[in-house]
Amino acid sequence: MPRKSKKKKTTKKISRKKLAKKVKVGRDVVEEPILLQPPRGMRDILPGEQSYWNHLRQVVNRAAREYGFQRIDTPILEYANLFIRSVGRGTDIVEKEMYIFSTKGGDKVALRPEFTASIARAYIQHGMNVLPKPVKIYSIGSVYRYDRPQEGRYREHWQANFDILGEQDPILDAQIIQLAHRIMLNCGIKNIQFQVNTIGCQQCRPEYKKLLESYLESKKHKLCQQCRSRLETNPLRILDCKEDKCYQVSSLAPQSIDHLCGECRSHFKNLLEYLDELELPYVINSKLVRGLDYYTKTVFEIWSTEKEGKKYSLGGGGRYDGLIETLGGEKTPAIGFAVGMDRLILEMQRVSVRPYLEPKPKVFLAQLGDLAKRKSLRLFSDLQKSGIMVAESFGRGSLKSQLRLADKLGVAVTLIIGQKEALEETVIVKDMASGTQETSTREKLIPLVKKILKNAVYVSNKK
Ligand code: HAM
Repeated sequence: MPRKSKKKKTTKKISRKKLAKKVKVGRDVVEEPILLQPPRGMRDILPGEQSYWNHLRQVVNRAAREYGFQRIDTPILEYANLFIRSVGRGTDIVEKEMYIFSTKGGDKVALRPEFTASIARAYIQHGMNVLPKPVKIYSIGSVYRYDRPQEGRYREHWQANFDILGEQDPILDAQIIQLAHRIMLNCGIKNIQFQVNTIGCQQCRPEYKKLLESYLESKKHKLCQQCRSRLETNPLRILDCKEDKCYQVSSLAPQSIDHLCGECRSHFKNLLEYLDELELPYVINSKLVRGLDYYTKTVFEIWSTEKEGKKYSLGGGGRYDGLIETLGGEKTPAIGFAVGMDRLILEMQRVSVRPYLEPKPKVFLAQLGDLAKRKSLRLFSDLQKSGIMVAESFGRGSLKSQLRLADKLGVAVTLIIGQKEALEETVIVKDMASGTQETSTREKLIPLVKKILKNAVYVSNKK
């Protein structure tokens, strides 16, 4: 007897190198093989995960309605210089992470690495400045960053993004944080904390930046390689470098909070009073600067306080009072934030949130024979039109296997059309709970099915 191989089963890993070999197709034609996987850092969201995504989308859409936001959809692709000017040349996003390329027509474009720049562009382009203020808009969509992929960090991720344009009052900063909190709670994520900071405005930040630069310059030898070059391009970002040695340097660095102009100081003070009033869980993190250059005054991030699991921000945002003007619009104060939907879903799964249940069909439509098959397609559509969700298995010929499926799906009613019923324009209606069945005419069918379904709901509620 041949001995069974004791070789361990290993998951099939596709070697890119191996697959990169050219494949000879015809006599002269050589083609690259097809990699049966999406590009690195991107993934499919399979049907089994969709209940979480639907749950989250419902929460986001509902919160948007309740807080008076209207939806806007902008293209995934924009002219690259929109992001370069908005997000900033010295940022990681623009320097390292943007998917940027030239079209066949020679336009330099980029996959959106975030939403705010597109929102600002659309606000100016469509003259939204004439709308009653504040203008509240939100988007849901995918975002692209060529970062190093790992758990919770993807090259394609999804954001729900909210922006309020046209008002300066700190109450809006508080309202946007309250909205972010609401979204978290409605997703079943309770253990979170907001980290808030203020990074000043065009008036007070230059002075602070000079002070910070000269401090960091004196400690240059203690900084990591990347932060040494950040000293030239984006010194503020050194404050939130996670390297130990940089952390030690930045702990003693001057803080923006101590160098604010009167307006920024009172803006931040008012915001904190609102947050206290709302009893929102927050801490001041004087090192929080965010990785996008357009921010002024308030910046914030949302972090999970669960002990286990990877630490990353679930969302973040801030005020950007100068962006619209930088892009050529009129002076327009604004504030916004985005939640990372992929990360929110990981968090929901981590804390064992049960997503909303999707409604399931309560009726199964079975058919036998060619004529019955033709009739059932029309009947299926009639039932749907009258609001009855129906499951079917039109591809299966055997009645037995269709009935087995109906049983497995746990429907309340099974409708059967055979050759005889098809000719007589009738349908067999089987009440699955009682096992009784009767033949109905097409005219009486829908009221009869609705009656059985109503009764089934009553019985299941009574149980
Ligand atoms: P952001 O902090 O860069 O802000 O991104 C928002 C959220 O998206 C993050 O807090 C995180 O949850 C998620 N996220 C970011 N990068 C990744 C990634 N590679 N993989 C998975 N999730 C990720 C912005 O994008 C701003 N535009 C938000 C804003 C709106 N500010 C004002 N208005």
